Amino acid sequence: MAADGVDVAIGARGPRALDQTASAIHERTGRAVLAVPVDVTQPEGAAAFVECALKEFGRIDILVNNAGGPPFGAFGRFDDAAWQSAFELNLLSTIRMTRLVLPHLPRDGSGRVINIVSVSVRSLLPGSILSTAIRSGVIGMAKLLAEEVGPHGITVNNVAPGMILTDRVRETVLKDKLAGGMAEEDALAELAAHIPLRRIGRPEEFASVVAFLASDGASYITGATIPVDGGMSRGIH
Ligand SMILES: NC(=O)c1ccc[n+]([C@@H]2O[C@H](COP(=O)([O-])OP(=O)(O)OC[C@H]3O[C@@H](n4cnc5c(N)ncnc54)[C@H](OP(=O)(O)O)[C@@H]3O)[C@@H](O)[C@H]2O)c1
Repeated sequence: MAADGVDVAIGARGPRALDQTASAIHERTGRAVLAVPVDVTQPEGAAAFVECALKEFGRIDILVNNAGGPPFGAFGRFDDAAWQSAFELNLLSTIRMTRLVLPHLPRDGSGRVINIVSVSVRSLLPGSILSTAIRSGVIGMAKLLAEEVGPHGITVNNVAPGMILTDRVRETVLKDKLAGGMAEEDALAELAAHIPLRRIGRPEEFASVVAFLASDGASYITGATIPVDGGMSRGIH
């Protein structure tokens, strides 16, 4: 989005990677980048993040809800605390950030809410029980919110990644394969074997869809969940 001319405020808990990311975006695009350490599961932190962005830029046009994902595992592995954490990280944070930002979004057709979810909301992904259950709530919320704020020209959409080569994938599925003694190239090929395009996605291939949904070109798309998954989700619809 910065490459498309948008000033951005970005947040994560760890300040080091956050600052490095902000510098990289600024160097590549020349846009203003505000980096604010935030834990979106904490109400005060989320509110402070939004306040900082408003103070710096004087307006907010686009909200992208994108925090980390819950752990993988079978139903029996997770107790109430694990379910509560997944709810707070992926559903409540989305609700909270949206509630904080919504009053500031423009009412001229350019206001955007974009939630990052997962391919698991469209097609069974073994081991993704926390993600699937919780993110289905995000889909439902987005659909109803799209209806509510549509008359104000605000769109609400979800983007569902399949397998995109980010730190999350490097530190979970890929790491498991490398620990088993596989070469990285073979491990990546094995992970991609069931994906129609036969490769894992690049972060920029995912980002370009998010940037499109944020743009004027996507002004008539709302309540949608767009897969970016190389064909990985096997549902007909
Ligand atoms: N990559 C994929 O193939 C894939 C597939 C399906 C779904 N997804 C979902 O898409 C989203 C992004 O995935 P990713 O692969 O980019 O994940 P990632 O590599 O794990 O990055 C997650 C980012 O969110 C930040 N974060 C985590 N918890 C946070 C919190 N409580 N408050 C604020 N920031 C937080 C992390 O920084 P800190 O740790 O410093 O806070 C990090 O910057 C996740 O929800 C993931 O589950 C990804």
